[in-house]
Amino acid sequence: MTQLQAITQTSEVIVTCGTGGVGKTSIAAALGVVAAQQGRRVVVVTIDPARRLLDAIGLHDNTGNEILQVPLDSAGELWVTMLDVRETFDSLVRDTSPTVERANEVMKNSFYRSLSKSLSGTRDYMAAERLYNLHNDSRFDLVIVDTPPSRNALDFLESPERLARFLKHPIVRFLVAPSRGGFRIANAAMQPVLKAISGIVGGDALTGAAAFLQAFDGMETEFSRRALAVADTLRSDATHFVIVTAPSPDALSEADHFVSELSRLRISLQHVVANRMPPAFGALTSAEEMKQASVTTGDLSVAHSVIAGLCEDAEIARIDIGAFLERTRVLFPQLDITYTDEMPADIHDMESIAVLASQLAVHPA
Ligand SMILES: Nc1ncnc2c1ncn2[C@@H]1O[C@H](COP(=O)(O)OP(=O)(O)O)[C@@H](O)[C@H]1O
Ligand SMILES: [Mg+2]
Repeated sequence: MTQLQAITQTSEVIVTCGTGGVGKTSIAAALGVVAAQQGRRVVVVTIDPARRLLDAIGLHDNTGNEILQVPLDSAGELWVTMLDVRETFDSLVRDTSPTVERANEVMKNSFYRSLSKSLSGTRDYMAAERLYNLHNDSRFDLVIVDTPPSRNALDFLESPERLARFLKHPIVRFLVAPSRGGFRIANAAMQPVLKAISGIVGGDALTGAAAFLQAFDGMETEFSRRALAVADTLRSDATHFVIVTAPSPDALSEADHFVSELSRLRISLQHVVANRMPPAFGALTSAEEMKQASVTTGDLSVAHSVIAGLCEDAEIARIDIGAFLERTRVLFPQLDITYTDEMPADIHDMESIAVLASQLAVHPA
């Protein structure tokens, strides 16, 4: 069994990271296929699937948090879902509210409404919250998280702790605590703080903020508990991080960035998938093909030099990926790699994902 197969066999959570266009979402889906073939019940959470890939896995733009099963001939099950920030936040509020009335009060609050759609940190936190839910959902053994293509895609890893810290902050404690003289908002000392908060979320959320925090009273304990549980899971042996890259200078320099982010977050990296590799072309090296070109004539010679060029692309790709692997192993010595080919066509259906999956499952390290 390869390292990657061991990862799909045993992990509870797999996080794929990498820059846009390397095939991160396709690989996340293909890893799901590999795990389902191993008999696992897998859910892939994808953030920004390309249109054709959405069609391939049977998801559509407006499915929200809906979890759909992909028909697959395998021992296990493959499910897919997207992240709907608002829906996740609402269900978190419903889960943690002492009463239905209180949940409704929070959800119709203007501050909450702007918080749940405009704050970029909210998105990160909801990604973590969604992961918490899916990881604790008894229908699934494995959650594969496909991170967004942005440079700061790993911010969500820090968001649980950030939220827990925020909720413990004296200012928040102060705002949430039952007040003696009515609304805290009446307190002049609090004005700059509330102004700053409303500056962050935009709009005239000032009164909404105080009302929100009061309605929210008591729920923050459960918010923090979940946030910290996710943070623990992400750093435990149950979670594996996989960097997806491609043999281009841009993709590799972004991969370097993710490597240093993981290292800074003290999260270990086990595996790299080098996707979109130029397929090997025949048995000869580029130098040997060039030699053939020089000892033959006419069309045959031209053919050999064309093939030599293709061989050279594949060799350079291997060398660049090899150099990436070497520098990354300084930080993560256990790091292993799997190669997948550049396919003749786009990944647009389950068959092409299955081809990627078969390469993920057989390529030796
Ligand atoms: N191995 C591959 N061969 C050919 N095309 C690929 C391969 N991997 C990904 N693609 C294509 O590249 C594009 C980006 O893929 P996607 O999985 O959405 O990448 P990302 O999530 O990294 O942006 C899609 O059009 C997809 O079909
Ligand atoms: Mg993607």
